[in-house]
Amino acid sequence: MRYALNSTEIVVGLDLGSTKVTAVVGEVDADCIRILGAGTVPCRGLRKGVVSNIEYTVRAIREAVDAAENMAGVQISTVYAGVAGSHVRSHVSDGVCAIAGREVTRADLERVLEGARAIPVDADRMLLHALAREYVVDNQDGIRDPVGMSGVRLQARVNLVTAAASCVQNVIRCVERCELEVAEVVLQPLAAADAVLSEDEKEIGVAVLDIGGGTSDLVLYADGGIAHVSVIPAGGNNITADLAAGLRTPMGEAERLKCNQGCALGRMIGEDEEVEVPGVRGHGSRRVARRLLGDIIEPRVEEIFAEARRRIEELGLLEQMASGCVLTGGAALMEGMVECAEEVLGMPVRLGMPEGIDGMVQLVQAPRFAAAVGLVRYGAQALSDAALRERDRGAPAPAVLRDAPRESARGRGLIDWLRAAF
Ligand SMILES: Nc1ncnc2c1ncn2[C@@H]1O[C@H](COP(=O)(O)OP(=O)(O)OP(=O)(O)O)[C@@H](O)[C@H]1O
Ligand SMILES: [Mg+2]
Repeated sequence: MRYALNSTEIVVGLDLGSTKVTAVVGEVDADCIRILGAGTVPCRGLRKGVVSNIEYTVRAIREAVDAAENMAGVQISTVYAGVAGSHVRSHVSDGVCAIAGREVTRADLERVLEGARAIPVDADRMLLHALAREYVVDNQDGIRDPVGMSGVRLQARVNLVTAAASCVQNVIRCVERCELEVAEVVLQPLAAADAVLSEDEKEIGVAVLDIGGGTSDLVLYADGGIAHVSVIPAGGNNITADLAAGLRTPMGEAERLKCNQGCALGRMIGEDEEVEVPGVRGHGSRRVARRLLGDIIEPRVEEIFAEARRRIEELGLLEQMASGCVLTGGAALMEGMVECAEEVLGMPVRLGMPEGIDGMVQLVQAPRFAAAVGLVRYGAQALSDAALRERDRGAPAPAVLRDAPRESARGRGLIDWLRAAF
């Protein structure tokens, strides 16, 4: 990946998950993103990806950012913050504009996307992203990057992603309470998908399922662009709760059993394997067949994969998932997940780790850090796009001071709008 940057920039991704808050510090230059530090702190301030307790969330953000700052040796002032939850919707919209000169410029792209964005949005919702699926120049369709092409009429087909304004506002409020500035609010599932996919997979068509603690986020790429984003309101926490109830063991023990001994496919477990299950208060521990864990976990995991398949089928995109499915998020690590997903989805499945980074990669080399790394990648791309726009206008690329508060055109608009609205 190359970025249109003349100077080195610090970009921080802040992932607010249902089980933990993670801050990742990246140093970006024209060639790569170097990971300098990361901080991750357990957090109970979000339920199913949505802030439900401001105090807990603020405390976790402070701790995660402090830890990341100390490790990276930089002062953090601005973050790319993720937002998630089942309030997120996406719909298709078209924009059309006349091509100003003889060939399409980035300014034309901005205008046509602006047109596609200009649809009425309910007062309690807001637009997060306008994702270009394809462009049409005159009568030629299926164009990914029309810059430099000749023509008179430019059309863009975009996916508009909207979110509940109050949920976005709460994320911004929590971050600002920590005396940090939000450069942009980014849809977490998109960030996670971007971090684990190769360009080839995006090109050919692929599904990404980020199975976190509270939710499982589905992102579909078809025809080289993002075709769908939605949230399945079940994740690893549901598996833990099922185990706690089914085995009559405390939640903490159920979580430990799941992570150490859990398996998503009962028949992968040997007949004679046993596990020690601690009892709830007043009851001693007992040994049970490990198969029993599989019997409890499998239906829940199957339910998540079946729902993903149902959504892909309903959209008519099953055939287009030629690269299959990539599983990421913390719960994707469980034994048998890939095999179970292959059976239910009926396509090849692999485990997705964050990619496209250098430096202290080992800090974030796990599926649960996909979203946080994706947010850094998003920030790097946003700065690069802004620099290109400046260059197009004839000005030199902005040499942003290391870690000075910086403004992102799109993000600022969103945040100003929110300030005015609340
Ligand atoms: N080895 C493992 N086996 C099974 N589950 C695991 C394992 N490691 C982590 N998990 C589960 O992954 C979940 C946390 O994943 P992750 O950190 O991606 O979630 P999150 O980002 O906090 O939540 P969400 O994205 O849903 O808001 C927890 O339910 C945890 O129990
Ligand atoms: Mg997550």
